[in-house]
Amino acid sequence: MKKILSIVLKKITPTKKEIILEQKMVEKIRKKLLKIKGKHSYLEWCGSSARGTHLCKDRDLDLFIMFNKELSEEELEKEGLKTAKKLFKGSKWEKAYSQHPYLRGEIDGFEIEIVPSYIVKSGAEKKSAVDRTPLHNKFLLEKMSENQKKDARLLKQFLKGIGAYGADLKNCSLPGYGVELLVLYYSSFKKAIKGISEMKPGHIINITKKINEEEIKNIFKNQKFPLIIIDPVDEKRNVASALSEEQFQRMIHASKKFLKNPNIKFFFPKKIIPLPIKKIKELLEQRELIAVKMPFLENELPDIFWGQLRREEKKLKTQLEENDFKVTRSTTWSNEKEVFILFELETLTLQKSKKIFGPKASDEENSKKFLDKKRKIISGPRIEDERLILEIEREYTKAKIFLEKEIKKETKTEKKTIKKSLKKAIVLEEKEILKEYKKDFAKYLTQYLIGKERFE
Ligand code: UTP
Ligand code: MN
Repeated sequence: MKKILSIVLKKITPTKKEIILEQKMVEKIRKKLLKIKGKHSYLEWCGSSARGTHLCKDRDLDLFIMFNKELSEEELEKEGLKTAKKLFKGSKWEKAYSQHPYLRGEIDGFEIEIVPSYIVKSGAEKKSAVDRTPLHNKFLLEKMSENQKKDARLLKQFLKGIGAYGADLKNCSLPGYGVELLVLYYSSFKKAIKGISEMKPGHIINITKKINEEEIKNIFKNQKFPLIIIDPVDEKRNVASALSEEQFQRMIHASKKFLKNPNIKFFFPKKIIPLPIKKIKELLEQRELIAVKMPFLENELPDIFWGQLRREEKKLKTQLEENDFKVTRSTTWSNEKEVFILFELETLTLQKSKKIFGPKASDEENSKKFLDKKRKIISGPRIEDERLILEIEREYTKAKIFLEKEIKKETKTEKKTIKKSLKKAIVLEEKEILKEYKKDFAKYLTQYLIGKERFE
């Protein structure tokens, strides 16, 4: 394992040159800020690059303009944006939103976020969620040893490799900060992997022990989290709140396997080589796949749109199942230009007739209700095993037609921006799916049809 970890570390650690460039960039902005008149106090470098826990080629810098708590929220917003715009003068930038607006731009190849924030001493004092970030930074800088920083990088890459890194709505896993806390709690990469491999749903990571287990359970009693990592700077927050059950189990499974059989492929999975189309045809013949293709809305924040896509997938799946189309598997893929929502069904065509079971004939009231309801009856009513039976005509027998109707219905009722995308949605069956078999979607479909974890 030692050898593998040192190989990985060499690949993921930013070079000295990269680090110096980052520092120079931040200093340049800090100096610029000093010259700008305004109500700000100072610049704070946050995020993983400030702590030396970032992965190489990661070009994002999170910079916070700090303001006194006395400033009103409107003023913070106004002042913050005005100052940030001056910092970005001459460069490409855009406005972005978290709890309040901030600017994101590009200077010399760095993706820089400039976030106005309040100076607070604890999470309890915070006025908005972004105020925690500088506190995270302080906490970790104080506690983490140089070796633990290396180990945090390793654990990030491990989770990336198995496809379980990032708290965004596409990945539904742990944020970088959560990974660092795990390493801190377990003290090293290896022990963190061991710790993860032994986790059970409902696991709690409580670093500072400022509150006890009972209080934690009480705080989160209305939410079902597979893992709770108490934020040391704000005990009411679960740093792992975005982690889905699926990603949680993936982390556990991969950790167990890695401990038994350490291999570099956990960090760097083999590239997927798309199978020849003939082979894909064969694999598709073994199953019933149907896809909804639609455009990714480019003007939308990716994270917000991903959230809507995940909901859409769930909604269509529920609708399919309620209409007797059993869904074996569903998934959403996007390269942030096109979207494919895939459903694997037990069957694409259902029988025309549907048998429905009524009450016992002796139950007069319910029998009447059952028989009086308007339906297209094909056969019955009759008695089978003491109950009333009807065979009725099914409204939708073809999954394709059913999905088309559902999507159309949603373009009329759905309020969210996804409506714009749904209006352009088309439903694809096997032949049409094969026509889309190219580039990254080909890789994805290959991986999907093989149906194995990348580290297996
Ligand atoms: P980033 O998403 O840039 O994460 O958020 P990171 O810690 O720098 O990690 P990587 O290496 O880029 O992936 C910057 C900061 O925002 C806060 C954390 O303090 C983080 O360090 N944050 C972000 C959270 O508290 N929770 C989140 O889900 C995301
Ligand atoms: Mn970052």
